[in-house]
Amino acid sequence: MVADSTNPLGSDALEGTRALVTGSSRGIGADTARYFAAAGASVVINYRSKAPRAEKLAAQIEADGGRAIAVGADLTDAESRATMFATIREAYGGLDLLVLNASGGMEKDMGDDYALRLNRDAQVATLDGAVELMDPGARVVFVTSHQAHFIDTTPTMPEYEPVARSKRAGEIALLERVPRLTERGIGFVVVSGDMIEGTVTATLLNRLSPGALEARREEAGRLYNVAEFAAEVARAAVDPIPEGNLRLVGDTSSFIGGGTVVPEAQEA
Ligand SMILES: NC(=O)c1ccc[n+]([C@@H]2O[C@H](COP(=O)([O-])OP(=O)(O)OC[C@H]3O[C@@H](n4cnc5c(N)ncnc54)[C@H](OP(=O)(O)O)[C@@H]3O)[C@@H](O)[C@H]2O)c1
Repeated sequence: MVADSTNPLGSDALEGTRALVTGSSRGIGADTARYFAAAGASVVINYRSKAPRAEKLAAQIEADGGRAIAVGADLTDAESRATMFATIREAYGGLDLLVLNASGGMEKDMGDDYALRLNRDAQVATLDGAVELMDPGARVVFVTSHQAHFIDTTPTMPEYEPVARSKRAGEIALLERVPRLTERGIGFVVVSGDMIEGTVTATLLNRLSPGALEARREEAGRLYNVAEFAAEVARAAVDPIPEGNLRLVGDTSSFIGGGTVVPEAQEA
């Protein structure tokens, strides 16, 4: 297992488990994968285009005594997903954890419907593919933002709105799967967070909408950084399933319908 004093889960909390974190070549996904490996999980680092970065992370985890493979797959592509799941089956024999972290929709030249194809359709298809590799006791975590979770009641930056709407549509489509997942003994949690300090997306949005980050920082009191938010995502994989399958991270009082934070009891 990986020696890591910052591991939020404890060094053997996930011993013997196998975890796929989508979009984990960088950012929140990469830190989540690191935490899982530090807790003893064999991890799959999925990426779309940044193979060297994903392979470097997998090599770092292995060098630290963990187990990791980097598997490239464009989640919007059925063949690509099928190849990824076949690779996982061959390498690990199954899956105990799936973190649906990969996200996008602000990329250029991907077509008008790309946000929906990635943030809704690909999420559901990835869940359906992963479930075939899962046994009772497995867990699925979907990562989203408050700006997306609350989009029906709280407006967001215009540049982010299509992404927010597509992620909310994805969240709703995934929640429709919950009864079927429950029947199979598979847990499901949505983890939602505010703008995260230091991410490419938050930096880009702040450039497009100057002052957006500072405004959120002031309204929320403070914003989480990548390592802190990833720790919440990692905890959501092991903590009891919260009410409504929803884990809201940080202050949500400035979002209409908000006001809930992660209960103290769930903090490590
Ligand atoms: N950033 C924030 O402020 C913030 C706030 C709250 C919640 N979140 C949520 O946290 C999650 C991670 O955000 P982040 O900012 O860390 O993301 P990010 O830095 O933009 O990274 C996105 C990841 O997704 C992968 N990806 C993109 N399109 C893909 C596709 N079609 N198929 C497979 N993988 C794909 C990318 O792979 P490549 O690099 O290889 O292309 C990358 O690893 C998202 O669900 C986001 O909504 C973010």
